[in-house]
Amino acid sequence: MDLSQKILGIHFPNPTVLASGIWGITAASWRAAARAGAGGVTTKSLWLKEHRGHASPVIIATDHWTLNAVGVPDAGIEKAREEIGDYQKDQPVPLIANIIADTVENYGKTAQAIAKLKPEFLEVNISCPNVEDELGKPFACSSHAAAAVTKAVKAVSGKIPVFIKLSPNVDSIAAIAQSCAAAGADGFTVINTVGPGMAIDLKSRMPILTNRVGGLSGPAIKPIAVRCIADVYRATEGKLPIIGTGGVMTGEDALELMLAGASLVGIGSAVGYRGSKVFSLVCAEMEAWCEREGVKKIGEMVGGMQRKLKMQNSK
Ligand SMILES: Cc1cc2nc3c(=O)[nH]c(=O)nc-3n(C[C@H](O)[C@H](O)[C@H](O)COP(=O)(O)O)c2cc1C
Repeated sequence: MDLSQKILGIHFPNPTVLASGIWGITAASWRAAARAGAGGVTTKSLWLKEHRGHASPVIIATDHWTLNAVGVPDAGIEKAREEIGDYQKDQPVPLIANIIADTVENYGKTAQAIAKLKPEFLEVNISCPNVEDELGKPFACSSHAAAAVTKAVKAVSGKIPVFIKLSPNVDSIAAIAQSCAAAGADGFTVINTVGPGMAIDLKSRMPILTNRVGGLSGPAIKPIAVRCIADVYRATEGKLPIIGTGGVMTGEDALELMLAGASLVGIGSAVGYRGSKVFSLVCAEMEAWCEREGVKKIGEMVGGMQRKLKMQNSK
């Protein structure tokens, strides 16, 4: 059973990818994720300059969902340069550098600085729902703004493929994806967190998160992720690779995202639920299912539902 995937010329030993913001920002944490079985690793969102996050508590987790308002803290470009350089000395699996900024111009500047470090892909976070107090509505909520960021990043990214990380919190993710594709996006990460949502402590009668609201992730959001991946895949005719992310806990979940159109599968909150071994567990579960069903190469699963629907509709 071959779990490897070649995406835009880059070899991933298996389709699982550490999602952005989940496991540290250091070379040591990316190596640890790779040792735990991740086929690729994504950095936390990187800012050009130091950025402070929100005050604690910033995260709540239940069996079904996680709510976070970490607020995208980051030490800035110098630290990113150090850690990415260190990781690249023996880089066990491909590195996806995730960037964020407050203006279109600063997305361009950040992308230019990070592209020089030569990660395998750039992932552009235009979709974080928990910094709205500071940045306003995410760029991912407007076709025009999302395309403007894509264009600014593509202008400076050279040969490094650019994945735009989309928001589920929009009327039409298909329309946003099409605008980004027309502006030159090479792929998409679908989805960022859902919401924002709120949780209230009954005793104090106050929101649990200091930021009051946060982005929803974990098992409860998987059906939204699957629908968004299917929409983006169809809107771009399956021509651009998708890193499907949202609610993946098991190998079966990962396969479901792939049937909708994901070529790689991001794993975020599940690291909290199943521990770091989640990557190797998900791979073993995918492999067991594929062997039972006679699937020889994992790539056969990508967009499988879409092909079946097309056949059914053409009858
Ligand atoms: C604690 C936490 C921090 C996150 N930080 C980032 C981030 O810095 N940049 C980003 O693009 N997404 C960030 N995300 C979103 C995840 O990368 C992912 O898109 C989302 O959680 C859905 O996947 P999941 O259900 O597997 O967690 C964060 C999510 C969580 C739970």
